[in-house]
Amino acid sequence: MLVSQLVVVCVFLIFILVRSRVFAKNVNHDQVRHSLDPTPFPNSFKCFTCEKAKDNYHCNRWAEDKWCPQHTHFCKTVHHFNSHGKSMSVTKKCAMKEECHSLGCHHRMDSGHTECVSCCEGAICNVEVPTNHTNAIFSVMNSYRKSDACRSTSYSIIMVSAVLLLLLLKP
Ligand SMILES: *[C@@H]1O[C@H](CO)[C@@H](O)[C@H](O)[C@H]1NC(C)=O
Repeated sequence: MLVSQLVVVCVFLIFILVRSRVFAKNVNHDQVRHSLDPTPFPNSFKCFTCEKAKDNYHCNRWAEDKWCPQHTHFCKTVHHFNSHGKSMSVTKKCAMKEECHSLGCHHRMDSGHTECVSCCEGAICNVEVPTNHTNAIFSVMNSYRKSDACRSTSYSIIMVSAVLLLLLLKP
């Protein structure tokens, strides 16, 4: 009796697993279709990239959102603005962890401008520019967390299935 119940549970878990796999595949397909070019490597992502654009509009307007090189994991934004809050320069790029160590805002003596630096993790997460200490920070996108949660759910399903199968096979 117990063995047949376990078989039913296993079949059910495997069914759920296969379904979530199919769903994940569909999501990937959609992403590829939207961006019109295939992902160059696993976990690849894009950042807005521009060099000294005159403001955020001109950065995002003309920025190609590029696939980031494999050694980078974050998007970095450097925003310079004057004492009236008017943007003077916006630079956005893909960044390594080391480039995201000194974030925040500070006054630059040379130009009299304020420089705010922020980093974020997640696909095309650097849409906005940092303007004060509340947004010149390191931020993580929700979508990134969600996909992590999905992955850990399927891992736990695999683990539970494996344990049940072991119990089943034990004489
Ligand atoms: C920081 O900037 C954001 C966006 O410009 C604004 O909504 C927020 O009120 C600012 N926070 C402070 C503490 O100035």
